[in-house]
Parts: sequence; C-alpha cells; structure tokens
Amino acid sequence: MCKQQLVVQESAPLRGTTRLWGAKNAVLVIMASLLLTRGKSRLTNVPSSCDVWQMIEVLKELGAAVVFDHDLGVLDIDTSKVFGHSISEHRMQKMRASVLVMGPLLARFGKAELSMPGGCVIGSRPIDFHIKLFRQLGIQVTLSGNKVQAEWQSRVGDARLILEYPSVGATENALMAAALSNSSITLVNAAVEPEVLDLVEVLKKMGADITVQVPATIIVRGVQELRPIEHSVIPDRLEAGALLIAAAITKGSITIPDAPVHSMGVFLEKLREMGHVVVESCDGVGVHLTATSSPRAVSFKTSPYPGFPTDLQAPMMVAQAVAKGESSICETVFENRMIHVRELQKMGAQIRHEGMYAHVHGVNKLYGASVIGTDIRACAALVIAGLVAQGVTTVTGLDHLHRGFANFEGKLRKLGANISESRVAKSDTQSGSTCVVGQLSVTNDIQK
Ligand code: UD1
Repeated sequence: MCKQQLVVQESAPLRGTTRLWGAKNAVLVIMASLLLTRGKSRLTNVPSSCDVWQMIEVLKELGAAVVFDHDLGVLDIDTSKVFGHSISEHRMQKMRASVLVMGPLLARFGKAELSMPGGCVIGSRPIDFHIKLFRQLGIQVTLSGNKVQAEWQSRVGDARLILEYPSVGATENALMAAALSNSSITLVNAAVEPEVLDLVEVLKKMGADITVQVPATIIVRGVQELRPIEHSVIPDRLEAGALLIAAAITKGSITIPDAPVHSMGVFLEKLREMGHVVVESCDGVGVHLTATSSPRAVSFKTSPYPGFPTDLQAPMMVAQAVAKGESSICETVFENRMIHVRELQKMGAQIRHEGMYAHVHGVNKLYGASVIGTDIRACAALVIAGLVAQGVTTVTGLDHLHRGFANFEGKLRKLGANISESRVAKSDTQSGSTCVVGQLSVTNDIQK
C-alpha cells in the first residue's frame, strides 16, 4: 500500500495574493450545532478538509442528509430526519471534535451516548471540563469504561457556572446544551476565541438569546425552538498565520485580503517585532506582509485567546529557528505540543526542549531531511521549514495536515513554493492515523 508524502525544496520568496478558507475550528462546531434545528441549513466557505468530511459522517450517522460541493465550499445539511442520539466508537475515535455533538444532542433529544474521543498526540485532552459543566446544568453523566452516557435529570433553572479554565470545546458544548432550554445560564471565564464567537453568531441566527460580556462571560437565555440558518464561516486566522510565516521566512511578500486581522493582534505584533513589515487593513480584514531580510528572534508564550494561539506555536517556532538570536517559546495550553522539535532538529535547527519550553538558537540554514508531522499544525510547520532548507525535505504524516487544511500545499505552490507530491511504500513511513474520507483536496487544486 502507498502513502503520500510531500517533497519540499528550498524555494524562492513567496509572493502574491491568497485567500482563506473558513476556519476549521469554527466550521466543525457549527456543523454540530445544526443538530439543534430541524430543517435545511446552508454553510458557505467550508474547507474540504478531512475533519469536515469526518463531521459529515457523524451527522449522517445521526440521520442528517448532507450535500457538500467541496469545490465551492457549500455545505447543505438537512436535520429534519435526525433520529439518533448515539455515535459509534469507531466514529468517535476518528476525531476529537465529534464530542461537540454532545451538547446539541442533549438539547434536542435529552440524551446522548458516545465513547471517549480519541486521545491525541499533543496531550491527553480529557473531557472532564465538558462533563463538569453538563453536570452543573442538571445532566446526569455516567462513565463506564470508554462509554459516556448523558441524560437530563432535573433542569438546573437559572445558574451561574464558572469554568476553571476557558476550554474552547467545553464552552461550546455548554452553550449548545443551554440554548434550547427554559433556563438562563451564565458562563464565567468562558472561551472567547473568534471561532466560539462565530458559533454564538450562528446560534443567534437560529433564534437563540445570547449575550457576550467582556472580558469572558457568555449569558444564554434558553428558548423553545431554534431554526435552520445560512451562514458563511469566518476566515481561518490560523491558516492566515501559517501562510504569513511561510512568506516571512522565505523573505517574500504576500497579501491576504480576507485575513481577520482584528483577531490576530498578538501574533501580528510578534511578526513585527521580528522586523517584518505587516500592514493591516483599517477595517480589520486584510493584511499585507513584506518580510525583512534579517529577522530577529522573539520569545512568546501561548495562551487562550486573545493570547498567542497554540495552533501557531509550531509554525512560529520554525520562524525562530532561522532568525538571528535566541528565543524562548512557552507552550501553556497543551502539555505535549512540542514533538516537532525533534523533527526540526533533524533539519539542523538548534532547539533545546525542556518541559513546556523550547529554547531556540537561530541558525543561518536548515537542511533537508525526512520528517514526520504528528499533528495538524506541526505538519504545516514542517512543510514551511522545508521551504528554507537546503536540499530536499520529505514530509509524511499528511493525514494530519489534511485534517485541518484544505490544500495548504497547493496554496503555497501558487505563491511560488517548490512542493510536489509523491507516493511511498507505507512501510517506509511511520505516519500516524489515517483519514478515511474526503482526500479530494490532496490532488484537486481548489481555487482558493
Ligand atoms: C480547540 C481547537 C484546537 C485548539 C484548542 C485551544 C477545535 C476543534 N479545536 O480544541 O485547535 O488548539 O481549542 O485553542 O476547536 N482540557 C481539559 N479538560 C477538558 C477540556 C480541555 O483538561 O475537558 C485541556 C486540554 O487538554 C488542553 C486545554 O484544556 O490542555 C485546552 O483545551 P480546549 O480549549 O478544550 O481545546 P479543544 O476544544 O480541545
């Protein structure tokens, strides 16, 4: 059996204009939220990524009818005939985000049955925060082996729930569970990532009564019914970040007209600190980057929004690996999100990994090597590193890349990157999990 790998060669400066797909982290939860309604909804700007295809399978398993025009990014989901409230273990293992159907199923059917979502290489990623919030809402949650069964017992009435950590998924699940109810629920220390706020927009379009208060409180006053919607998913700030880093390290110059710069503040500031010229459009959408020829190393620490996004830690580490000077990178969100350090070291990067820190000593050059991407963002980072590595870099583990990005390599190629695809015997690679559906984006050059 063959597996795909990317062959990346040292590339000329990336130049040109590119546009973004809808945010992966928004589209998955929005797809799940459609279970709160009965009828046909339409989502646009939907990326043809493997995780989207996986979520389509989850919704189909529950009885939804789905039509996805993946070239246009138009996804029609009809939930009129949804009957099920349980997800098979096989499906849950494929994608952690399947856990996001739990809130909508509880709201619509009063119960949900699933198994623990697959573990993840970037950390243990438990769902205890989700379960705690559900219990506080009056839902009985029973854990038995790998199975999770949840059912409304006594509804809590009006309540103020305080999250000990602003978990993105737990906030989203609680919001969706509370949206169809008789209660008014206040979530304090909620996650306020732009993708969570896009979900809030969608729920409001459905007819939900939700108020977001600064800095991080969300009040949901439950309603009796929610209706189908049409919605264009917000552009992916994380895809924008990865593309900007690719242009920056190749000393290029790119424009992303739909980049949501209003939600990329800390990240863009770090690029400026490195010496790159970053010009933001005054209406908060659109960015142009002109790279400096002598980037300075900068230190940064990941944290929940509006801090530096953990999903850009790996690509930004690549930028530090070839910058002048020393930097310290601190990963505070996931406990095991530095596996790419080992791969970058193979390419000649000088990085010392100590617990949640990576200490980077910038070098003049990276060298091509065979490297393995172990999560979505790490895989993107390795592809980006290959653009400034002397010789040939082969990147495997592409199942991860394609889970979160729709044709990332194609976009880089259009900007001038020297990247091709090849197939290798499976035994020659050690890549992780396999994406079983929707590999169309790999070879189709999507016009975006
Ligand atoms: C989402 C994003 C992911 C991003 C992350 C942080 C999606 C589909 N994925 O993941 O790309 O990197 O937010 O911005 O939107 N935790 C617990 N118990 C829980 C839940 C979380 O301990 O019940 C821990 C996690 O292990 C992690 C931290 O809290 O260390 C943050 O997780 P969370 O914000 O929940 O991230 P996800 O929703 O899984």
